[in-house]
Amino acid sequence: MVKPKIAPSMLSSDFANLASEAERMIRCGADWLHMDIMDGHFVPNLTIGAPVIESLRKHTEAYLDCHLMVTNPLDYVEPLGKAGASGFTFHVEVSKDNWRELVQKIKSKGMKPGVSVRPGTPIEEVYPLLDDENPVEMVLVMTVEPGFGGQKFMPEMMDKVHALRKKYPSLDIEVDGGLGPSTIDLAAAAGANCIVAGSSVFGAPDPAHVISLMRKSVEN
Ligand code: DX5
Ligand code: ZN
Repeated sequence: MVKPKIAPSMLSSDFANLASEAERMIRCGADWLHMDIMDGHFVPNLTIGAPVIESLRKHTEAYLDCHLMVTNPLDYVEPLGKAGASGFTFHVEVSKDNWRELVQKIKSKGMKPGVSVRPGTPIEEVYPLLDDENPVEMVLVMTVEPGFGGQKFMPEMMDKVHALRKKYPSLDIEVDGGLGPSTIDLAAAAGANCIVAGSSVFGAPDPAHVISLMRKSVEN
């Protein structure tokens, strides 16, 4: 079966102390570090890019799960590959014409390709990318409108996760937005195995406890 991956979203960390925050999350039991890359165009917020990933890579060997909330993901493949990104998840809404080229380039740079859907995008739109002879290896189902941490989980997105899990039993299915101890059971029951959580982990007095709670829910 698919393995649980708990991925704290570094968007909720203290960006001025990114290396120590990353180390703290790994110590607390994180499997992956989720890195939100935004361009101020695809979403109304601006965060980090390849230079920050490159700096962080010098301080950690952790899996850097990069979520590209950008209008032109193709422009980011080469720089992020060089910077040491591990996963490269682009949005299907901006990749209708070039996803094959994107997937091929992401793999050629040694990264794991993933595709993400905004809440308003039907899940059927990712099926061609999974059924292709050179498929994406993860689907990220957004459970909030992308752009900001700390928003409310949208339970109606679980239908997408359920449909995906039924069709692709061994696929990595990631959920992102509003995940924490009160919502994890819904996501786990629907079949999500990669769990992104920002505010619920960083805002907790005991992040290790929150991470272990979420892992247990996915394992069950
Ligand atoms: C939102 C980002 C998320 C965000 C999640 O656009 O993609 O990764 O950091 O934060 P929480 O867990 O606080 O909803
Ligand atoms: Zn994200």
